Amino acid sequence: MAAKATTTRESAGTVTLTVDATGESFTLPLHRGSVGPTVFDIRKLYAETGMFTFDPAFMSTASCESRITFIDGEQGLLLYRGYPIEELAEHSNFMEVTHLLLYGELPTKRELDALTNNITGHTMIHEQLTQLFRGFRRDAHPMAIMVGVVGAMSAFYHDHHDIYDSGERMIAALRLIAKIPTIAAMAYKYSIGQPFVYPRNDLGYAENFLHMMFSVPAEEYVVNPVLARAIDDIFILHADHEQNASTSTVRLAGSSGANPFACIAAGIACLWGPAHGGANEAVLSMLGEIGSRDRIPEFIARAKDKDDPFRLMGFGHRVYKNFDPRANVLRTRAHEVLETLGIRDDQLLDLAMELERIALEDEYFVKRRLYPNIDFYSGIILQAMGIPPSLFTVLFAIARTVGWCAQWAEMMGDPSQKIGRPRQLYTGEPQRPYVPIDQR
Ligand code: CMC
Repeated sequence: MAAKATTTRESAGTVTLTVDATGESFTLPLHRGSVGPTVFDIRKLYAETGMFTFDPAFMSTASCESRITFIDGEQGLLLYRGYPIEELAEHSNFMEVTHLLLYGELPTKRELDALTNNITGHTMIHEQLTQLFRGFRRDAHPMAIMVGVVGAMSAFYHDHHDIYDSGERMIAALRLIAKIPTIAAMAYKYSIGQPFVYPRNDLGYAENFLHMMFSVPAEEYVVNPVLARAIDDIFILHADHEQNASTSTVRLAGSSGANPFACIAAGIACLWGPAHGGANEAVLSMLGEIGSRDRIPEFIARAKDKDDPFRLMGFGHRVYKNFDPRANVLRTRAHEVLETLGIRDDQLLDLAMELERIALEDEYFVKRRLYPNIDFYSGIILQAMGIPPSLFTVLFAIARTVGWCAQWAEMMGDPSQKIGRPRQLYTGEPQRPYVPIDQR
């Protein structure tokens, strides 16, 4: 089943661009989506004017048309296919959300059962792929292993998928979504020297992940439902976030017609950075570095100092300039998890709460609208559950695989799809003749 098309873009008239230096005027079409800002369509700008636009970090550029996720950063709104993230976190589960993102609608009971069967039917990885882990150093960062092993999946399915067929695209997506928790848990087991734990298809998606992470052959492991629910919520909240850096990476890689497993590996590589998915790990190492309440002012001062590269990890967002709605959900979950685990006097949590309080009152942060983001709270929850910080971004990657796949499938299904190819503002040397080495 392909995603349903429910809305289309509308014409919103035109905009006139006047070049002051020459007095020339050009008319550009304006488009309106279903919600959100109107866009100037500059696709023919170069052909008609000989000029490019300049927007290096895509601050004002819509790189594609999409029906999947909508964010209004001013209002703190995040919608998956029109549904608010808070309602999905409260009433739904990750499998339902997977269906919603991939196919465009919440599933009926039958559709949900079919999807769950499809996913659980693909949770094991090719046995030969398990050999690959042994090539990594024991102390390899799990994200390095993820990039390598997910990329290597392309060697196992290199000619199986016709990426121009919507059904085949969904098979690739389901394989990825099913296998990524298995690969993630294996990366963890490998790093601590424990045997790999095979998936259990009678367990839910989050439960099975916890089982593969924490069970050992020597004793029974029973998954705590509160923890499984918290992981499921973390997966829901991280599943998609429109055209963020890693999703744009997946789209750009996919735009050349590359293998989907290789495209997702590219997304994982991008997600790893501390300005993106790596921030939740960075929050924990920052709290460790701060160490005690009395040192918080010193770190706040460093965050404000323009000559110091230090930033308060887990604060600020490119899009959310009011609050991060995902952080609101996770703040509540964080308290539930700590209560369930009986953690009351945790020093790191205490530090985190104090940091949150000070930053929310401090003029520097208030003026720049720097609020705690999702990574601030997810780091605290995962730490309390005994998941090592180096695995935090890996969990993000598990969840975001659904969004990456939905976005990749949407792009590949667009008949006007072309290879992505930005232009540049060149400021290097103009053409000059080659100088032989003895004359330099
Ligand atoms: N600590 C201190 N100052 C900050 C911070 C911070 N965390 N974030 C932004 N600022 C300041 C920045 O110095 C700038 O100040 P000024 O206007 O005086 O020059 C102003 O706030 C605007 O910042 P910006 O760099 O223009 O904002 P951006 O949209 O480019 O960056 C960000 C967004 C998320 C990369 C940045 O806020 C940051 O580095 N935060 C810490 C890392 C983090 O928590 N990342 C996770 C993002 S949420 C997960 C996800 O969706 O991937």
